[in-house]
Amino acid sequence: MTHDLSHNLCNSFDEVVAREGTQSLKFDGRFATFGTHDVMPMWVADMDFAVPEAITKALQARANHPVYGYSIAPESLYESLIDWLLAKHDWQVKREWIVLTPGVVPSLNLVVAALTAENAGVIVQPPVYFPFFSAVTNQNRRLIENPLVLHDGDTNHAHYAMDVEHLDACAKDATLLMLCSPHNPVGRVWSQGELLQILAIAQKHDLIVLSDEIHADLVYANAQHHLLSRLALESEKLISDESHRIITAVSPSKTFNIPGLGLSALIIPNAAHRQAIQSQLNKMGVSVANPFNLVAFEAAYREGDEWLNALMAYLQNTCDEAIEFIQTHLPAINVIRPQGTYLLWLDCRKLKLDHAALNHFFIQEAKLGLSPGSMFGRGGEGFMRMNIGTPKANVMAALLRLKAGLAMKSVAT
Ligand SMILES: Cc1ncc(COP(=O)(O)O)c(C=O)c1O
Repeated sequence: MTHDLSHNLCNSFDEVVAREGTQSLKFDGRFATFGTHDVMPMWVADMDFAVPEAITKALQARANHPVYGYSIAPESLYESLIDWLLAKHDWQVKREWIVLTPGVVPSLNLVVAALTAENAGVIVQPPVYFPFFSAVTNQNRRLIENPLVLHDGDTNHAHYAMDVEHLDACAKDATLLMLCSPHNPVGRVWSQGELLQILAIAQKHDLIVLSDEIHADLVYANAQHHLLSRLALESEKLISDESHRIITAVSPSKTFNIPGLGLSALIIPNAAHRQAIQSQLNKMGVSVANPFNLVAFEAAYREGDEWLNALMAYLQNTCDEAIEFIQTHLPAINVIRPQGTYLLWLDCRKLKLDHAALNHFFIQEAKLGLSPGSMFGRGGEGFMRMNIGTPKANVMAALLRLKAGLAMKSVAT
């Protein structure tokens, strides 16, 4: 019975949901981003799939009540997050640790503003999701870069690692490390060993760690995600929550494809940190809850599990076929196999095109709207990020466009 249900769900991911004309950034924002409507949009990180039915039903039920006034998060919403983190990640979170925020990017800015002083050093590990940089520079803090290291090889062996020695050196001069776990754009799911090394460095240098775990639920079968804060609580054998230096950002938004609704949570065991962050939020006059994001958040965590299992099976299959196609038909491109996220990181350096020429090739010749790797900072040049959160037929059609574009290119040169 369960098997049949997830099988049906898997099939439903093949359905094309037309998104044009829905004020979709990915689709309706194409011209503003790429200068043309004529690209297949595979850039900003949302998916083209219909959300779990339970979310739609919860939103419809709320919309049926005709007053959309100021809202307050019910205790049951906090419980839904606590239950999810315990069931999926084996982490027992206390209610008072949770602070709701209007998104993870606002949370990054909020934590930097609340917990670091002007000109303080903040470590980021490029190539990384670009708002990590602006969260630091927006507030006149100092960026300290610890670039990831790419261990080259063929697709099945190429992988990124953290430069732990350099991180240790950077930490001497820093107040905060912003960790992306799993890591967008390179798709790494950090191992327990790597995370323990981070914790040791953080403890040694009294570093606060902001761990952005928005992709924590989007992990493939070959990897296991470990919540950094849970590991810290276990491994440091802390006597009180107050000495805890890890802040975790989570959200159902990527997992269940509801990022447009804007609701996330910070989990902050340290009471002083929590107070500083809450007071910063109050100073900005930010109102987090609205009638729709509240019901969607709770329905996702309470009823989305089966849908998520089917999604991951579908994405795994898409990913495998896409990688096989690239290996067989696109020798100029080396794809890094992701352990998590619905993002493929394409190494296009063999094409020997500079940033502008690579962009021009993808947009004008292959007719594909991807995210240029250079957006993600150092180490991103020569790469492109492809969003495969779309029916598999779209991904394969995009790869055929890429193949045709590359064939034209080799004829021309
Ligand atoms: C690592 C990471 N953090 C945050 C976000 C965006 O979060 P939000 O939409 O909640 O601001 C993304 C979206 O791609 C992401 O990849």
